[in-house]
Amino acid sequence: MAYQDVYAGWKSDPEGFWMSAAEGIDWDRAPSRAYFDQGPAGEWFADGLVNTCWNAVDRHVEAGRGDQLAIIHDSPITHSSRAITYRELRDRVASLAGALRANGVEKGDRVIIYMPMVPEALEAMLACARLGAIHSVVFGGFAAHELAVRIDDARPRAIIAASCGLEPGRVIHYKPLLDSAIQQASHKPDFCVILQREQEVAELIPGRDLAWHDFQYGVEPAECVPVEGNHPAYVLYTSGTTGQPKGVIRHTAGHLVALNWTMKNIYGIDAGDVFWAASDVGWVVGHSYICYGPLIAGATTIVFEGKPVGTPDAGTFWRVIQDHKVKSFFTAPTAIRAVKREDPDGELIKDYNLSSLQAVFLAGERADPDTIQWLEDKLHLPVIDHWWQTETGWAIAANPFGIERMPVRKGSPSVAMPGYDVQVLDEAGQPVPAGTLGAIAVRLPLPPGTLPSLWNAEDRFRKAYLDHFPGYYETGDAGYVDEDGYIYIMARTDDVINVAGHRLSTGAMEEVLSGHPAVAECAVIGVADSLKGQMPLGFLCLKKGVDTPDEQIVREVVASVRDQIGPVAAFKLACVVERLPKTRSGKILRATMAKIADGEDVKTPATIDDPEILDEIATALQGIGYPKR
Ligand code: COA
Ligand code: AMP
Repeated sequence: MAYQDVYAGWKSDPEGFWMSAAEGIDWDRAPSRAYFDQGPAGEWFADGLVNTCWNAVDRHVEAGRGDQLAIIHDSPITHSSRAITYRELRDRVASLAGALRANGVEKGDRVIIYMPMVPEALEAMLACARLGAIHSVVFGGFAAHELAVRIDDARPRAIIAASCGLEPGRVIHYKPLLDSAIQQASHKPDFCVILQREQEVAELIPGRDLAWHDFQYGVEPAECVPVEGNHPAYVLYTSGTTGQPKGVIRHTAGHLVALNWTMKNIYGIDAGDVFWAASDVGWVVGHSYICYGPLIAGATTIVFEGKPVGTPDAGTFWRVIQDHKVKSFFTAPTAIRAVKREDPDGELIKDYNLSSLQAVFLAGERADPDTIQWLEDKLHLPVIDHWWQTETGWAIAANPFGIERMPVRKGSPSVAMPGYDVQVLDEAGQPVPAGTLGAIAVRLPLPPGTLPSLWNAEDRFRKAYLDHFPGYYETGDAGYVDEDGYIYIMARTDDVINVAGHRLSTGAMEEVLSGHPAVAECAVIGVADSLKGQMPLGFLCLKKGVDTPDEQIVREVVASVRDQIGPVAAFKLACVVERLPKTRSGKILRATMAKIADGEDVKTPATIDDPEILDEIATALQGIGYPKR
């Protein structure tokens, strides 16, 4: 069947489409229908009973694939590789879940997971799913304060962490970060489980911390607990416009049905195939396509603890693909740009046998045509850009490789997936003609597997996504759709920036900068960067009478952002200015400043209070080497 038929089939009968997709899942009680008009934006398969862990693990053992590899851990950082079969995974997860249950974790309890790229991170997620506990994974590159904010919002009964993470050349001491976060948070977990890694053995706090292996000793393994289709499987925090992250909720049944559908239809993956998403479990890509998607489909997933370059070189990706016979590979454009910068002629690619590989998928940020072209030239394989968000959990737009390979239009993540009626709207919420730029929105309801609301924040959910364009979900991205339905994502409409495929809030960074005693006012923008896509850049207006040298203040705010948000913020650039450009109503003109920093033509906004400030901004930027071109 061709894509057009599949999409039209969904549009004419969404209920039938999703009920048929639901047949790919093992239900404890089959849902009576797909869509339920309840909750702020609708829910899916709400009256079904189902367990995620059963579908991702146990059912494959029952089906006779217990000896097949479920997880391969490939860690160039520790020079090690190990594999876990589906049977081993089931036993390990049942034991971990049993130990959590013996310590009081039940269905509906939250469990925070703060772990590096080790198989135990997936096992922790699956153990929660086995019990119906709601996990919230926090990315290891965040600082203690960010972890504390999430602890206070999720109010976990337990936290599962590792003693350390490993970045090239340095050990990330997780335990002191965890201890500091728990100290900062008002909510305290009942207990913490610590996986001691051989690179660092952390000191445990008696009465609070339990060692991963010890606490499982002698416990009864847990069976899978069936949960309602609309029971939250997890909460994943993502950046919004303020320092308070948004807790994206994922309901259990829609998540299972949608991910299972995508593995075959988007990624062309069947049971027994090897799928690799080179991301991190702390991001949505890690949830959907390192952990759940491949396992639900009965494929082998790779947990990669390394970087595209430097571990040990720009050939690592190709080595992993060769060694584990990867069929579909998923990464971020920034990772390919890093590889291209180190190995521009692709010499290292020639050292490896990539015959298992059928396609490369890119997401997380806009895939620039140069990067796609380079990869196509070097690999002679389809390179597929696809567009999605933490909120949606799977691709809104893609080239559905498993259905049909559509012609590629570089710069476009191709076409809307079934379930998504994508529209481009003007400010008044009216659809605009093909080719016209506007806000990208999706007509409600969103498909299964997408967010039904925000954790503890239904009002914020409505305000952030539903209120602006009634009847639609507002994606926060701007762009256009061409005459043939190809979607082009051009920019964010809010203050979210994308640094090395990581979604960051400039508002959160501004909150940190404002906390400096010398700073009266500030703004953070994203400037174009040839490797990371964007980099954050801060403007600081100082309080009257401050005599500390500007360079020192810049150094201090850079250190504060690293300390409070984390190294992943990659905040390294800031300059001191007298004033910030604003509209007459006092709104800071961040987009105009970003244009100046990127060397683009700037039309002085009609609403600007004092146009001369733009020259002052340009001069300050020149002082730190911007624009670059
Ligand atoms: N734990 C602790 N620190 C982390 C971390 C983690 N899990 N991940 C990143 N960091 C640190 C890095 O060590 C770096 O620290 P530094 O400032 O001391 O150098 C900082 O956070 C910034 O990291 P990053 O922006 O990733 O830059 P980098 O220079 O280390 O690497 C790339 C650049 C392009 C190689 C890397 O960003 C990359 O692989 N990107 C792909 C991202 C991706 O897959 N995203 C998922 C979306 S699909
Ligand atoms: P995240 O929630 O971290 O996955 O980030 C989602 C945001 O990243 C989207 O709203 C887009 O702004 C951007 N993004 C992700 N994938 C793409 C893509 N393929 N093309 C353009 N932008 C993308």
